[in-house]
Amino acid sequence: MKALLSPVIAGKLQLDHRVVMAPTTRMRTAQGGVPGELMIEYYRQRASQGGLLIAEATAVSPFANAYEDAPGIFTDDQQAGWQRLVEAVHALGSQIVLQLWHPGRQSLPELSAGRQPIAPSALIARDTYGVVKNHQGAYEGKLFPEPRALEKSEIKGLMEELRQAALRARAAGFDGVELHAANGYLPEQFLLDGSNQRTDNYGGSLENRARFLLESVEILNEVWGKGRVAVRISPSGIYGDMHDSHPTATFRYLVEQLNPLGLAYLHIIEPRIVGPEDRETGHYSEPVASRDLRAFYQGTLIAAGGFKPDDAESMLQKGDADLIAFGRLFTSNPDLPERIRHAFPLATYNRDTFFGGDARGYSDYPAYVSDGV
Ligand SMILES: Cc1cc2nc3c(=O)[nH]c(=O)nc-3n(C[C@H](O)[C@H](O)[C@H](O)COP(=O)(O)O)c2cc1C
Repeated sequence: MKALLSPVIAGKLQLDHRVVMAPTTRMRTAQGGVPGELMIEYYRQRASQGGLLIAEATAVSPFANAYEDAPGIFTDDQQAGWQRLVEAVHALGSQIVLQLWHPGRQSLPELSAGRQPIAPSALIARDTYGVVKNHQGAYEGKLFPEPRALEKSEIKGLMEELRQAALRARAAGFDGVELHAANGYLPEQFLLDGSNQRTDNYGGSLENRARFLLESVEILNEVWGKGRVAVRISPSGIYGDMHDSHPTATFRYLVEQLNPLGLAYLHIIEPRIVGPEDRETGHYSEPVASRDLRAFYQGTLIAAGGFKPDDAESMLQKGDADLIAFGRLFTSNPDLPERIRHAFPLATYNRDTFFGGDARGYSDYPAYVSDGV
């Protein structure tokens, strides 16, 4: 049997196979960041018996969003929409965790109640764009403005927002939550010295820079208990104008600190992928792969980034990760685990319909129909 199709335990999640759907922002909420019928259908199509879906980046705050029509989890309507979606996925035997997202300096005032973005330090994410709708109703990229450095006294409020989002995710019936600490968003802005110049106990030493992320996990653990909270990191990522003087040391330290927190899993984006987009090339000061961090982390690892079924299988065979998350391939292959099981051909994805729009290029990819099996 393929390793990809063998059962695995990730904290309190018991899964029948290891083909995970990676979180993918598709900008398809109904209105007000509420998951509606279109999204429910999309996730339902991708559910599989004993599988794991990671729902897309979801704003934890009304004051921090980067993509028009991305979902939130801070209103009753949003929570109710997610609940319906989770029920649809559970009905097919799949589990689903929600990716909790605070973009920090990668927030657009237009999508954040007019507020200036907040960040560890007033350092702009250069050459990085969010997406808003213009007057003609078309999506357009928009550079992020300069953020405001957080007062230390505000951090408590951010943790409270996170707690409320985690409570809502639990009430909506999710199986767990994944802290989005990758791709240049708020927890990573604190972690890396290229975006954190604070002089209080949230900046400076590695211990201080990791504090925000680790405290976030502790808050999530308080709500969820151990084994249902996960963290996503991108130790080689430069998306969002991110850089660090010593990424290897930074991420080794971080994952060691995560050990006692009893995560469901640690989710690592491999060096060949840069950020949340589909760029396949980039430059890295020090690539840090799952294989490197494996020696420092004792729990279950999900690796993501540029995997095809064959190299995903060999990654698992080598023991460099425990599960593999697929992003783009899941957009065009709703039945990806079945296709892997039977070696059915894979449909190619269409980048033009990744972000925003209707059912086209979203929920209109059919499951594979075989005439022999
Ligand atoms: C359309 C699109 C949306 C994405 N949205 C998210 C997101 O919401 N959260 C996240 O952590 N990564 C996001 N990513 C990154 C993917 O999770 C994944 O790491 C990346 O696509 C590389 O994996 P792949 O080669 O299997 O596609 C996104 C990627 C794409 C293509």
